[in-house]
Amino acid sequence: MSGVRDFHDRVAVVTGASSGIGAGLARALAGRGARVALVARRADRLEELAREIERAGSRALPIACDVADEAAVQAAARRVIDELGRIDVLVNAAGHNRHVLFKDHPTSEIERTMRVNYLGVVHWIKATLPALRSQGRGWIVNVSSLAGKLGQPDEAAYSASKFAVTGLSEALSYELEPLGIHVMCVYPALVRTEMFDAETLARMPARSKDSFIEVDEFCETVLAALGRGAYEVTVPRPFAFVYLIRLLFPRMMRKQTAKIRLSVLPDLTR
Ligand SMILES: NC(=O)c1ccc[n+]([C@@H]2O[C@H](COP(=O)([O-])OP(=O)(O)OC[C@H]3O[C@@H](n4cnc5c(N)ncnc54)[C@H](OP(=O)(O)O)[C@@H]3O)[C@@H](O)[C@H]2O)c1
Repeated sequence: MSGVRDFHDRVAVVTGASSGIGAGLARALAGRGARVALVARRADRLEELAREIERAGSRALPIACDVADEAAVQAAARRVIDELGRIDVLVNAAGHNRHVLFKDHPTSEIERTMRVNYLGVVHWIKATLPALRSQGRGWIVNVSSLAGKLGQPDEAAYSASKFAVTGLSEALSYELEPLGIHVMCVYPALVRTEMFDAETLARMPARSKDSFIEVDEFCETVLAALGRGAYEVTVPRPFAFVYLIRLLFPRMMRKQTAKIRLSVLPDLTR
C-alpha cells in the first residue's frame, strides 16, 4: 500500500482540530489541497480555524463532537460524507493527558482517558471504514505517543490508553491493508501545545522544556512519513533510538527513567 502526497480532491477528517497537533495537521492538509473536516468539542475554536482555512482558499467543515460518544461520531461521519462527498484520510489526534500518580487518579478519570484516547480512535475508524472500503483506498493516521511505547510514571492511565492505540494501529495496519487502507501510527515525544500547561510542566524534569519542537515541524515530518507510506513515525525522529536502548539495556533504561521522572514528583510517597 502506498503513501499519499497529493491531497487535491481528497477529504480529510482531523480529530483534535481545535488546538495543537490536530489544528496543525488540519492546516497542513488544507494547505496541500485537501478539504478538511475539523472535529473537537470546542465549536468556537473549530469555526475560527475553518474561517482561517477558507480565507486561504480551501474548504473546511467544523463539527463539534465528543469522540468518546459513538453515536455523535457516527452522526459526524455522516455529515462529512453529506457535505464534503467522501472521506480519504482520517487523522485521530484528539486526546488528553493529566500528569498524576496512579494512587491519586480516580478510576472514573482513568476510564474517561480510555474512552477519549482509545475508544475515540475506535469510534472514528468504525464510522469511516465503510466509506474508506467502498473507495478501496484510504489512509488512517493515529496519534499515539512515546508513552504508548514506553510506560511513563505519572502518566500510567495515559500510557495505557496510548499503548492501546499502538496495538490497535499495528494490528489494523495488517488487517486493513488488503482493503486498500493504509494505517500509520505517530509517536510524538514533546511537541509544544496546550497539553503542556503550567501544572503539567511543573511535574516534568526542567530539561525536558528544552526538548520541545514546534507543531509545524512536527506536521512536516508526519506528512512526509505518510507520503513515504511509513507504518509508524516517531517525532522528533532521534527519539526512536530510545526503543533500542530499552531493548538492549533495560536496566539502564529503568534507572534513567526513574532518575529523570521520579525526582521531580513531590507527592510520590506521600
Ligand atoms: N504534544 C505532545 O508532545 C504530544 C506527545 C505525545 C502525544 N500527543 C498526542 O497528540 C494528540 C494531540 O495533542 P496536543 O499535544 O495537540 O494537545 P492539545 O493541544 O491539548 O489538543 C488536544 C485536542 O484533543 C481534543 N479533544 C480532547 N478531548 C476530546 C474529546 N473528548 N472529543 C473530541 N476532541 C477532544 C481537544 O479539543 P477540545 O478540547 O476542543 O475537545 C484538542 O483539540 C493527543 O492525542 C496527544 O495525546 C501529544
